[in-house]
Amino acid sequence: MKTVSQQRFGDPDVLDTVQTAMPVPGRGEVLLRLGAASVNPVDCKLRAGRVRFLGDPPFTLGFDVSGTVVAIGADVTGIRRGDNVFGMVHSRTGTYSEFVVARADTLVVHPPGSDHVTAAAIPTAALTAWQALDAADPKPNETVLVHAASGGVGHFAVQFAARRGAKVIGTARRRNHHFVRGLGAADVVDYTETDFTTAVGRVDVVLDLVGGEYGKRSLRVLDDSGRYITVQDSDALGDPRSRSVTGKPSTVLLTEIGTSVARGQVTVHIDRVLTMDEVRESHRLSESGRVRGKLVLTPWVA
Ligand SMILES: NC(=O)c1ccc[n+]([C@@H]2O[C@H](COP(=O)([O-])OP(=O)(O)OC[C@H]3O[C@@H](n4cnc5c(N)ncnc54)[C@H](OP(=O)(O)O)[C@@H]3O)[C@@H](O)[C@H]2O)c1
Repeated sequence: MKTVSQQRFGDPDVLDTVQTAMPVPGRGEVLLRLGAASVNPVDCKLRAGRVRFLGDPPFTLGFDVSGTVVAIGADVTGIRRGDNVFGMVHSRTGTYSEFVVARADTLVVHPPGSDHVTAAAIPTAALTAWQALDAADPKPNETVLVHAASGGVGHFAVQFAARRGAKVIGTARRRNHHFVRGLGAADVVDYTETDFTTAVGRVDVVLDLVGGEYGKRSLRVLDDSGRYITVQDSDALGDPRSRSVTGKPSTVLLTEIGTSVARGQVTVHIDRVLTMDEVRESHRLSESGRVRGKLVLTPWVA
């Protein structure tokens, strides 16, 4: 089967398509034929060696997958051959592959009306947005400031916060303002033109998907009961109002989010669908920092 592999850390050109043996699902695992995988910024960080929790290359990138079950390992219940499933895979064998091995207990069956491209775009970004908001626990009518509101995590976070009844303010470039308002934001600040610390007044929650020096600046718009949540390295960590969150697999949440998407209550914005033949280009796009919503990879055509 085909898989994307890399022999060393480096720029997108280290990503190569190679042939490898078909994996066999072990106990508690299933084998999927790839429908789609999505690209997350962490894939680029791992490829470049900026984060190294997969160890050294060679490995195959990719956390998010949607596919069709073609084989089932021992002790798997609730999933059958032929089911379309989606979820989050954390392994060195990744999801940028023709066939993907995944733990069955991290996958959920597609709700009626779902498709692979949409489903693959959901797991990491939506679960992270949901879990970050849970950590902040915004109440109806509280104000939530979402930094990077137009990106993969941000576009879910804006919708989830608005659905909880919060007033949402996003930061985004002007070209994305209409998009972010359409997701439910009451206001959007162009961070390239305006200092958000003076533009937004007081807020109750900051969801910081940018990190770094956005941290301490964000603390300035919170009072003592405010909550600052980040998924990044941030100079605000250490302040008693701040917390760091890491997105984790949850089939319960994924079922709920997938159902909301299938019912049209939550929108998944796909910036671009590329094939695995274009995987290098997908990483260049992701690293541009200008992706609106999600990038999705579908199987090789060449
Ligand atoms: N710890 C975790 O579990 C976890 C999970 C998921 C993601 N993350 C991290 O969270 C970050 C966001 O992830 P993502 O998937 O949402 O990324 P993404 O989709 O690549 O984000 C791209 C968006 O970021 C916006 N942006 C870039 N710089 C900005 C700035 N200074 N202020 C406001 N907006 C800015 C861009 O909008 P404009 O063009 O409008 O600027 C673009 O739409 C990444 O660094 C990722 O690694 C962490």
